[in-house]
Amino acid sequence: MCASERLEQIIEHVGDLPAVPETVSEVLLLTENSELDLSAVAHVIEKDPALSAKILRVSNSPYYGMRQYVGTLKLALVILGVREVRNIVLGISVFDALRSRRTESMLAGDLWKHSFEVAAFAKKLGDHLQLGLHGEEFITGLLHDIGKLVLMRQYEDEYAKIYSAAEGGNATLCTAEVERFGFSHAEAAAALAARWNFPQTLTDGLLLHHPNAAIALREARDPCLAAVVRIANLAARQRAADDAEAWALVSEKMPNMGEGERDALLAGFAEEIASASAPSL
Ligand SMILES: [Fe+2]
Ligand SMILES: [Fe+2]
Repeated sequence: MCASERLEQIIEHVGDLPAVPETVSEVLLLTENSELDLSAVAHVIEKDPALSAKILRVSNSPYYGMRQYVGTLKLALVILGVREVRNIVLGISVFDALRSRRTESMLAGDLWKHSFEVAAFAKKLGDHLQLGLHGEEFITGLLHDIGKLVLMRQYEDEYAKIYSAAEGGNATLCTAEVERFGFSHAEAAAALAARWNFPQTLTDGLLLHHPNAAIALREARDPCLAAVVRIANLAARQRAADDAEAWALVSEKMPNMGEGERDALLAGFAEEIASASAPSL
């Protein structure tokens, strides 16, 4: 079975996924072609003042690492570019759509902060390697664990039990999820992204964020993006990131870096990220 067939199957099994908000489909449509119309994108987003405010909060957050304060949506579009603003819109909208009484405790726990940490790690690594990912690494990092919210939304108490029994152990959690539901939170995240017509690069990054993924990183639409997000997730949890498959891909972009330098690089990022606090949405 190929990856897209598997995703179709998961979409069917995962239960009722939230509908894609109109703003998201409009923004995706407008940014699909290479002839980007900046004012049209601004117009769509400005219809939702709460969304505009959140975009500014995220882009000005220390996690995003902007050197310049961005005060208005138009300025964000000029400074960050349409694709980066689009990616932030996607990230915020997913969390908005999955926010409910059922998922609140998970977000109030460490999932929200962890998501921003992974996003920041991914962005710092992407910037360092000069991958030119237009903020896609930040948003894939931010969204990598949304499958946990999807499962919580769908199975509430049952998932809460599995989640707490895993005690933060990702391999244990993924195994328990597959045993009980037939798919992991990584697959649930990718299913939602596919349902919302997100770029394939992003969907694959979500799908492959754990080392036990069924598909090799090289098969991702953007293997480097997927590798960066996987490393970021490991680095945010363990302050060290050992995944030979991911590092092999990243090393192609920085061939002269040894293991010691790698660890030092991540430790430097961790220090920069440690003092930041996640923006409220
Ligand atoms: Fe995960
Ligand atoms: Fe994670």
